[in-house]
Amino acid sequence: MTEDHKAKSLAPVEDYPRSDEKSSKCLVYMLAIMVIQGSLLLVFATIFLRPQTPRFDIGSVAVRNFKYGTNSSAPSFNLTLVTQVAVENTNFFGDFRFENSNGSVWCGSEVVGQMKIPKGRAQARAIERMNVPIDVSSLGLSDTNRLSSNISSGLLELNSYVKLSGKMNIMKIMKRRRNPELNCIMTLNLTGKAVQDLKCY
Ligand SMILES: *[C@@H]1O[C@H](CO)[C@@H](O)[C@H](O)[C@H]1NC(C)=O
Ligand SMILES: *[C@@H]1O[C@H](CO)[C@@H](O)[C@H](O)[C@H]1NC(C)=O
Ligand SMILES: *[C@@H]1O[C@H](CO)[C@@H](O)[C@H](O)[C@H]1NC(C)=O
Ligand SMILES: *[C@@H]1O[C@H](CO)[C@@H](O)[C@H](O)[C@H]1NC(C)=O
Ligand SMILES: *[C@@H]1O[C@H](CO)[C@@H](O)[C@H](O)[C@H]1NC(C)=O
Repeated sequence: MTEDHKAKSLAPVEDYPRSDEKSSKCLVYMLAIMVIQGSLLLVFATIFLRPQTPRFDIGSVAVRNFKYGTNSSAPSFNLTLVTQVAVENTNFFGDFRFENSNGSVWCGSEVVGQMKIPKGRAQARAIERMNVPIDVSSLGLSDTNRLSSNISSGLLELNSYVKLSGKMNIMKIMKRRRNPELNCIMTLNLTGKAVQDLKCY
């Protein structure tokens, strides 16, 4: 009888601390799972919702059909720049689709050519390469004296700028607008009929 009474009175004393320990362990696990889930969500969000802007670059420039006149009363030049343009999608997920985009080539502050990038698509972790011909002519230049002295120096500096209008498409659900830009400076060597010192940034 005394033993039975002991057992009854001991039972609750042993039981309550155990279930308290269990529930506090449970809370710790739940918190840990929430923290892990939160950081996983953050990682996915940075990968999917904030895709990197694709890289945009000119790999090479070849000069075709180069003609120039040195007569100082009517100096002129005409040529075609055949540029190899590369769009590199550095993202692990999603493809980058871009629209037809227009850019310009300048000699000094005046436009001498139009750069037309055709629409295209760069898949995840891939590079889309295109040959883009640009017709360049001195027709738009107003200062013949300066052009004449530039031509007789044998070197002409050209600048180009183009901005792509495109979207990153992530798993056909999400679209994020991305507009990579390309700025280049190149020096045209008249006697060599070639571009030297191509710099893009
Ligand atoms: C360049 O093209 C323009 C227009 O087509 C022409 O008038 C000019 O003579 C050309 N220049 C040369 C050096 O061929
Ligand atoms: C330069 O051009 C002018 C007018 O276009 C012409 O009269 C002259 O003969 C040309 N000079 C040379 C050296 O070709
Ligand atoms: C690019 O320029 C051409 C004319 O040279 C024009 O027809 C076309 O609409 C322009 N494209 C864009 C995207 O602005
Ligand atoms: C023309 O020559 C001047 C100096 O004589 C130079 O400052 C300028 O950058 C040159 N322009 C081009 C388009 O090469
Ligand atoms: C232009 O090109 C020619 C032929 O390739 C070369 O001999 C010359 O040094 C170049 N000029 C300059 C200023 O680099």
